[in-house]
Amino acid sequence: MSIIMSETISIWVTTTLRQPWILSKIAAPKAQLSTLPSEPVIASKKPLKVDLVGGKRYSWCTCGHSKKQPFCDGAHKTKAEGLVPLRFVPEQDSTAWLCGCKYTNNPPYCDGTHKQDFIKSAQIPEQTNS
Ligand code: FES
Repeated sequence: MSIIMSETISIWVTTTLRQPWILSKIAAPKAQLSTLPSEPVIASKKPLKVDLVGGKRYSWCTCGHSKKQPFCDGAHKTKAEGLVPLRFVPEQDSTAWLCGCKYTNNPPYCDGTHKQDFIKSAQIPEQTNS
């Protein structure tokens, strides 16, 4: 029993630390803490297939506001306070499916989270140039 509780707590802590905005999906807070980062917007309800070059540094958009999805264009600086891009360097040339919904538990890669109801039923905000 304690092993199961320990693993459950470990998964919760890991998920919460990596994606603190997920708390708003599983619990209705009575007050919004000003220290929580902005919640990402869903850029796409499907993953985006990209060809990656081994050894090259990429910045995966975590806020969903970038117009260069799935990569960062700096939009987080004005539209998503507290969120920063995830930088990663693939070891070798590869083709990958990067998350477009921004709620993956294995960033920057799609893990199938986009198939969950809260993504499928979400409205995608209209992209503007402002
Ligand atoms: S597109 Fe985000 S988990 Fe698949």
